[in-house]
Amino acid sequence: MRGMNSESVDCIATDPPFNAKRVFNAPLGSKAAKQRFDDRWRWDEVTDEWQDLIATDHPAIKEIIEAAAVIEGGSIDHHTGRIDTGRRKNSIAAYLAYMAPRIVEMHRILKPTGVLFLQCNWEANSYLRLLLDAVFGRDNLINEIAWKSHPSKGLAKRRLPRNHGTIFAYGKTKKWKWNPSYEPYDLELLQQHYTKKEMKNLSLADQKTLEQYDKMEDGRRLTLDNIANPNKDRPNLTYEFLGINRVWRWTKDRMEKAYAEGRVVQEAPGLVPRFKRFLDEQPGRPRDDVWLDVMLPESSNTDWSTRKPIDLYDRLIECATDPGDMVLDPFAGCATTCVAAEYLNPSRQWTGIDIDPVAETETEKRLLESAGLFQVAVASVKVRKSLKRKDIPPVSPDKMRTVLWNQQGRRCANPYCDSDGLRAVDLHLDHRIPSVRGGEDDQSNRIGLCGNCNTRKGAKAWGLFLDQERAKQPHPTVGT
Ligand SMILES: C[S@@+](CC[C@H](N)C(=O)[O-])C[C@H]1O[C@@H](n2cnc3c(N)ncnc32)[C@H](O)[C@@H]1O
Ligand SMILES: [Zn+2]
Repeated sequence: MRGMNSESVDCIATDPPFNAKRVFNAPLGSKAAKQRFDDRWRWDEVTDEWQDLIATDHPAIKEIIEAAAVIEGGSIDHHTGRIDTGRRKNSIAAYLAYMAPRIVEMHRILKPTGVLFLQCNWEANSYLRLLLDAVFGRDNLINEIAWKSHPSKGLAKRRLPRNHGTIFAYGKTKKWKWNPSYEPYDLELLQQHYTKKEMKNLSLADQKTLEQYDKMEDGRRLTLDNIANPNKDRPNLTYEFLGINRVWRWTKDRMEKAYAEGRVVQEAPGLVPRFKRFLDEQPGRPRDDVWLDVMLPESSNTDWSTRKPIDLYDRLIECATDPGDMVLDPFAGCATTCVAAEYLNPSRQWTGIDIDPVAETETEKRLLESAGLFQVAVASVKVRKSLKRKDIPPVSPDKMRTVLWNQQGRRCANPYCDSDGLRAVDLHLDHRIPSVRGGEDDQSNRIGLCGNCNTRKGAKAWGLFLDQERAKQPHPTVGT
């Protein structure tokens, strides 16, 4: 993601790995591959520069991670800023430290109208919600979607069987893109609500009972809606219509037009006229945030056990994109998101990222399997091993030095450095996230150091270097 341009993606729909119990839930093709991920959430593996970037650029995230560590029985050394997760090697705190920079990147590459759908493990979801609030903003939480994952689960002795997934939907800004989503009406609702039919030779007034209605085989199903206005004080909507004087929902012009078109009916003289709402004109029942119809098969013994139902992604993508929009899954697995984006009609553009080499062949296989039409698509699938941002304007080293010098308060970037009288030309340019880790030349990733600091830092990660510098400072004395 660090190699992707800012604001280049319309929708991210993803299902990151989670491994609180040291049993990674994705069989990654080979045992060796599996091994690689087993230790992923160990605190000692969290790289220093991430820790530092989080601490300096995202103080809220730092506090969330620290709180998670304390909840798990760890402690914080407030002098060095180091988190000690105690004897627990596999921790939610470490998981959050892994997810945080990725969530930050997801936010950066989304367009202002973009939407993120993040599938969360039940053990981590409330922690991830905090991270997401910190990065995307609390006000941009669109939905928490709960989807039932299996038709049934075995009895659990001391709890209810766990059987739903949680997906958080966040907008990058308040201007997020959204298409309303509908599901088919159910029969019960039809019978309760759309109880009348429009027939050539039967007036609506004659359709008294449901039995009568059930006998009618053709005609358009409809219901009569209220067009009287509950508000009393609407002078411009108050007028007489078909002998009834009151406040209406519509202006007189609109009312008369609808009446002329036969859309407004007065069932008997003296009754308040009503509006004919035809079932065949309704898009369906508005879909809510509890989904019971996108389950995984009873025994999900697919080649990729974390594979998610395609209907799930289909639906998510349709909510937040238009045809041709770019959809990204940064933890693509066997590419359910990508296949869903390709399947939609008209299809969306898509990009998938996965660290596992098996994912690449799995994805190609899946694309080929899914439909013959992918023969064409696969030919145009580009596989890249690295990516470089193209939206960073080149800046000359001299200019960069001046910019950083001003930004750093006309001094060395190391806050513990006491070098004096430093000029812009004296700065040595460095990266906070080294280029080998995908760190870009973007100004936000550059620092200017004095010669002394630059030498002492050497090839060390910036975070580690800062920790060491901090540790050299006098410790505050407790008491007086
Ligand atoms: C839960 S699976 C996603 C499954 C996917 N939704 C599907 O239906 O196939 C998580 C994926 O994240 C990948 N992954 C783990 N760490 C990663 C990393 N650092 N960068 C990219 N992908 C990673 C794993 O290889 C795995 O395929
Ligand atoms: Zn210095």
